[in-house]
Amino acid sequence: MNIQKIVENKIRKVSKKKLLLHKPFFNNEEIKLLNKSINSSYVSTTGILTKRFEANLKKKISCKYVIATNSGTSALHAALLAFNFKKNDEILVPSLTFVASVNSICYIGCIPHFVDTEKNYPLIDIEKLENYLKKNTKIVSGKCLNIKTGKFIRGIIVVHMFGHCVQMNKINQLSKKYNLNVIEDAAEALGSKINNQQVGTFGKIGILSFNGNKIITTGGGGAILTNDKKIYKKCLKLINVGKSGKWKNEHDIIGYNYAMPSLNASIGISQLKKLNFLIKFKRKLFRKYEKVFQDLEFIKLLAEKKNYFSNYWLQTLLLGKENEHKRDHIIQYLKKKNIQVRPVWKLIHTLKPYKNFPKMDLKNSRKLEEKIINLPSGIDVN
Ligand SMILES: Cc1ncc(COP(=O)(O)O)c(C=O)c1O
Repeated sequence: MNIQKIVENKIRKVSKKKLLLHKPFFNNEEIKLLNKSINSSYVSTTGILTKRFEANLKKKISCKYVIATNSGTSALHAALLAFNFKKNDEILVPSLTFVASVNSICYIGCIPHFVDTEKNYPLIDIEKLENYLKKNTKIVSGKCLNIKTGKFIRGIIVVHMFGHCVQMNKINQLSKKYNLNVIEDAAEALGSKINNQQVGTFGKIGILSFNGNKIITTGGGGAILTNDKKIYKKCLKLINVGKSGKWKNEHDIIGYNYAMPSLNASIGISQLKKLNFLIKFKRKLFRKYEKVFQDLEFIKLLAEKKNYFSNYWLQTLLLGKENEHKRDHIIQYLKKKNIQVRPVWKLIHTLKPYKNFPKMDLKNSRKLEEKIINLPSGIDVN
């Protein structure tokens, strides 16, 4: 039997239905609160439901300050602005990520500097990065100078990919040594934890996304997470168009219209109540997929690492070496069979707008990209 048929049969053991990649889970709860928002007339950013969503999220993830935004991308943009990076500072970021992590660096006039993932695991290879920094940088006036480009490396965006947790203790150690500001892109990782602590709360600042395909959704939306009051205040002003003064009708900085509207927050309030259920569902779904694929040596399911708790946002197949070149065949075949799957994003450093930015050797990411197939992971897969 050919590989595409084998994969189809395995998925069909988990579900016989037409499957979407990530169907959101709504019921009457969302409609009730949406109605409440509409009836209150406060449907935009001044509605109380945005404040309530922030308070509920704050409690859920035990973070001191939470700001709801209109997307994960805007949360990232504001988060980066909070750090006073200078034009042309370099910020480390994986090439294997969604483009928003990289774009946010470009938006603020800084330079993305691409780093590699682990072999066969889509998270930053911290050891490789440490060796790279040792060889290619030196500390000048307390800052990390890239010897090759003559620019300072001032930050790092870590991405908790598909809900799997980056080893934040190691990242924080490394960032101390090289004086890097840590921004956690936890867009995909609400509910993922290290030692019972939500990822996104280990660095100075983190972000979440509530886009339609995430574990919970507000239609479009995101959040900034921080335990630092100064950063909180700065971000709050930035995302509220820089409003200031007694009547909030003045603007002492150039801000952005990035706050989450009440309509979206109303959906988020009900979605948050479903989070525990959804995490349980996804972890169970992982075990189901793992069980049906376990007899195949040439395909593995991406699993959380020991002592790290993943929300298993997107279930992920890793093709063995013999089948890497068959990825597109398998995806096309499954789509025809009403099973929506997808490849991972193209490596960002290979794309036209990003080709000339600095990078380390990205061998692991290049190999990994060809192996990944994301499987249907939403509530309809049962
Ligand atoms: C890793 C990562 N970063 C950032 C984002 C941006 O989030 P949004 O789509 O809400 O702007 C996403 C989501 O799509 C993502 O997957």
